[in-house]
Amino acid sequence: MSLPQTPYKYSLTQPLYDWHPWNMKWILFFGALIGSGICDRETFSGHQVFRINVRNGDEISKLNRLVNSDNLKLNLWKSPPALGHPTDVLVPSVSLQEVKSFLEDHDLEYSVAVEDLQTILDAEKQEMQHNVHQELSSNCFNYGAYHTLEAIHKEMDNIVKYYPRLVSTVTIGHSFENRSMYVLKFSTGEGRQRPALWLNAGIHAREWVSPATAIWTARKIACDYGKDAIITSTLKKMDIFVLPVANPDGYVYTHTHNRLWRKTRSVNPGSTCIGTDPNRNWNSSFGGVGSIADPCSEVYHGPYPHSEVEVKSVADFIKKHGNFKCFIDLHSFSQMVLYPYGYTATKAQDADELDMVARNTAKALAMLSGTQYRVGSIFSITYAASGSTVDWAYDNGIKYAFSFELRDTGDYGFALPASQIIPTAQETWLGLKTIIEHVRDNI
Ligand SMILES: *[C@@H]1O[C@H](CO)[C@@H](O)[C@H](O)[C@H]1NC(C)=O
Ligand SMILES: *[C@@H]1O[C@H](CO)[C@@H](O)[C@H](O)[C@H]1NC(C)=O
Ligand SMILES: [Zn+2]
Repeated sequence: MSLPQTPYKYSLTQPLYDWHPWNMKWILFFGALIGSGICDRETFSGHQVFRINVRNGDEISKLNRLVNSDNLKLNLWKSPPALGHPTDVLVPSVSLQEVKSFLEDHDLEYSVAVEDLQTILDAEKQEMQHNVHQELSSNCFNYGAYHTLEAIHKEMDNIVKYYPRLVSTVTIGHSFENRSMYVLKFSTGEGRQRPALWLNAGIHAREWVSPATAIWTARKIACDYGKDAIITSTLKKMDIFVLPVANPDGYVYTHTHNRLWRKTRSVNPGSTCIGTDPNRNWNSSFGGVGSIADPCSEVYHGPYPHSEVEVKSVADFIKKHGNFKCFIDLHSFSQMVLYPYGYTATKAQDADELDMVARNTAKALAMLSGTQYRVGSIFSITYAASGSTVDWAYDNGIKYAFSFELRDTGDYGFALPASQIIPTAQETWLGLKTIIEHVRDNI
C-alpha cells in the first residue's frame, strides 16, 4: 500500500538542529522570557552525586544510616544500598562536608559521579529553550530534544494527522490536576478487541528520556508500517497503544518547579508532603516490601491501590479492554531489562521464557552501539518493589510484562543530555522489536 507523505520535516536519525553553545544571545534572550515567570524553581547549585561502594553487610547498614538521616536530605538516585552495585546518592551542597566526613570516618569507598548537578540542568534548560525557538520558527518537531507535555501532545496529534488510517488518539482519563491521559492507538483492524500491546512511559516524572523515547517510538511504528516486516505483520494481528506521559502532572512539575520530581502531584490529607509513587500504587501486593507508608517518602505507595487516578485510568482501560498480551514500562536510568516479580523473590511462572526474551532483547539492543543492559527479575537485580506496574500487568494475565531502565548508568542519570535521546531510542527500538516479534509469534 502507499503511505502518506509527511509534509513536514522531522528526522528519526538525527536532531533537526545542531546545538551550538555559542548561540548564547538567543539563549539569554529566551531564558529571560521563559525564566521570568518562574521564581520558585528548585535549584541544585553545588549539589553532587556520590557513587558509593559497599563491600559487606556492615557497610550496607552504615550507608543506610547515612541515607536515612533526615537532616542530610539525601536523595537516592538508584537502588538502595546493596552488594555488588554502587549506590548513587544526590547530596545537597549544605550536606557535602558532613557526608564526606561520614564516608571517610567509616572507610566507605566513594567517588563523585556528578560534580555540580545545576550545571548539567542549566545546559539542559538552555538547550530546550533554544529548541523551542527553532521549532517555533520552522514548525518542526525535533525528535532529538526534550519537550513540554503540551508539545508532546501536539506531536501526537501530528502523527495522527499524517497517518490517519493507522493511528488515532484516545483520552483514557484525566490526571489529578485534570490533564489528559493521552494515548496513541495503532490499529489496522476494526471493531474487535484485538490482542494488544501497551507501551507505557513517563510514570516517573523526572525520567525524561522515557517520554522522549516513547514519542520517537510512536513515530517509528507509524513510519515502519508497510515497510518493516515485523511491524507490518504485528499490526495485521495486534493493536499497539502508546502512552508517552503516564504521569502528566509530575512531568509538568519537573519543567516548572523541580527537575527531580518523581511522584504524582496528588494531595495527601493530613500531610504537607505531596504525591504518591505511581509505580508502587498498583493493586499487586500493594503496600508490601519495597514500598513505604509515609507520604513524604519517594516510594510512598498511596492510601489504597489505584488511589492515583493516573494509575486507575490505565488499569481500568486495560481491564475493560481485556485482551492485552504485552505491557512494557519505560523508565530510566541503569540500563536494564526487567520482568516480574518485584514484590517477591519467588520466580514468576513464566520466568524462564521471560528471561530468554529479555536476554534476546538486551542482545539486540546492544547491536547498535554496544550499550550493555543487565537482565533479570525486578526483585533479583534491583530491589524489592511492591505494587509495581509490570507486576500488576503480569498478575492480571498479561504474560509479556517488561520494564526497561534506559540510559545511562549514572554519569548524567535523570539529566541525560538530549544528544543521547535518538541513540537511546534507536537502540531501544531493536530491543522492543525483539519483544514484539516474540509476542506476535506466541499469542
Ligand atoms: C478537565 O478538563 C476538561 C478539558 O480537558 C474539561 O472539559 C473539564 O471540565 C475539566 N474538569 C475539571 C474538573 O476541571
Ligand atoms: C485489588 O485486587 C483484589 C483481588 O486481588 C480485588 O478484590 C480488589 O477489588 C482490587 N482493587 C482494585 C482497586 O482494583
Ligand atoms: Zn522509574
